[in-house]
Amino acid sequence: MLSRSLRRPRATVLTAGSILVAATVLSVGLTSCSGRVAPVDTTGRVEFDTTLVIPRLAESRLDAAGTRVFALVAEPGVTELTSAGPTTTAGYNGSYLGPTLVARRGEKVRVELHNGLAEPTTLHWHGMHLPAAMDGGPHQMVAAGAEWSPEWRIDQPAATLWYHPHPHGETEEQVSMGLAGLFLIEDDGPAALDLPHEYGVDDVPVIVQDVRFTASGEFAEQRGFVGILGDQLLVNGTLGPRFEASTELVRLRLLNASTARTYDFGFDDARSFQQIASDGGLLAAPIPTTSVQLSPGERAEIVVRLVPGQTTTLVSRPPALGVDPNASAGNGGTDRFDVLQVIAAAVLSPSGRVPAVLAAVPRLDAARVAITREFDLNGTQINGENMDPARVDATVTVDTTERWQVENTTGLPHNFHVHDVQFQIESIGGRPPPAALAGWKDTVYLPPHTPVDLLLHFSDYTDPGMPYMYHCHLLWHEDRGMMGQFVVTNPGEQATITEGTHHDH
Ligand code: C2O
Ligand code: CU
Ligand code: CU
Repeated sequence: MLSRSLRRPRATVLTAGSILVAATVLSVGLTSCSGRVAPVDTTGRVEFDTTLVIPRLAESRLDAAGTRVFALVAEPGVTELTSAGPTTTAGYNGSYLGPTLVARRGEKVRVELHNGLAEPTTLHWHGMHLPAAMDGGPHQMVAAGAEWSPEWRIDQPAATLWYHPHPHGETEEQVSMGLAGLFLIEDDGPAALDLPHEYGVDDVPVIVQDVRFTASGEFAEQRGFVGILGDQLLVNGTLGPRFEASTELVRLRLLNASTARTYDFGFDDARSFQQIASDGGLLAAPIPTTSVQLSPGERAEIVVRLVPGQTTTLVSRPPALGVDPNASAGNGGTDRFDVLQVIAAAVLSPSGRVPAVLAAVPRLDAARVAITREFDLNGTQINGENMDPARVDATVTVDTTERWQVENTTGLPHNFHVHDVQFQIESIGGRPPPAALAGWKDTVYLPPHTPVDLLLHFSDYTDPGMPYMYHCHLLWHEDRGMMGQFVVTNPGEQATITEGTHHDH
């Protein structure tokens, strides 16, 4: 049994739907009970009286071999998040969230993690291409008080990645306590210097989490089928955040670090902005848009043009979950939030223009697909099974391209995340993806009953004995085993972790 010492005295409000879902893996139908849930709407009710906290940049040193070394301590804490009272939290090098790590493509990095929690954890690099043994998934457990120092070479385009714990069965708990942070990759691409890039000034992290507080200020839980849903938002751990902008263009790096909620971000004045990046890096060209929908784990970078002296508010409107109206209400599909107020100074420094061409995003070639695999997400299982740490679900040959046909057959929200690679979406419901989803992705929302075909190219790292994960990034689902394992091997090599296991179904 894991220690429960991280857990705060939470108030748990179980809806009828969640009790039924918890009792067995029941899926559709029952959750229409949660249709009674009243929508959350914070429009016009957020004070925006607190300056947006910018997570500090992680310090690093270069060791004798030229490796950039970071040090992170996962630790319990108490944080003043709300005037209701102090909240029991956890963070890295602090009491809530963690510092932003920055490294350049080509650099070797090492992160020295000390687990200062009273329970085991792991540290996963979401979106990172790296050896399976360094991935920080459920196979790299770090005991309370222990250290873990993964090391790898950064070799992927500039991107907004993030890190969070991944201990099987405890991920939702640890992430919702505050264990998460950003990992920004930089490169020398032509757009790097033209885009806003001064951290905290015109290049601003926006880590969005929904929370609910008890009367005394502790985190409370209220669940839908998707997991814990809050009724207020924290941005970078700030309740009611305002950001004072000093430049004409502001780049917002949006991370949906919520465990269950999907957002549809836009501005209260319906202004248009440019989406410049998705999960795995810059898009080929900026996309003018008025909204960007992010399910848990997804990121987007947007660039907003400001008018001197004007205030605009980042909001979240009801996301298009694609589920029936009853199920939508119980799963965040009818909720609206004021997210972040952006106040432009009376005089703004000039910013130049967003480049018309951002990056080369070479298309993965469907004609070279070596194998097509199917993944059916139903209830909280994938292909009818829960994750078994001793079972390999797919053995992938290195240097090949695969097509993964993923379908949510539940009728309720799920998404899909793959470790190790950035994939490309080949089609959604048989049609090419919209431009915002045509770049590098590692997590994708799965509208029910809509096949989503992914193209994935696996390269560089092989390890027949150590799997990577794929899973639903609704963390409660993931914790319940909505996850599978794949190994990447050399041609002809067999996975070696299957020994001594069998399937009994
Ligand atoms: Cu963000 Cu497997 O995780
Ligand atoms: Cu991941
Ligand atoms: Cu799910």
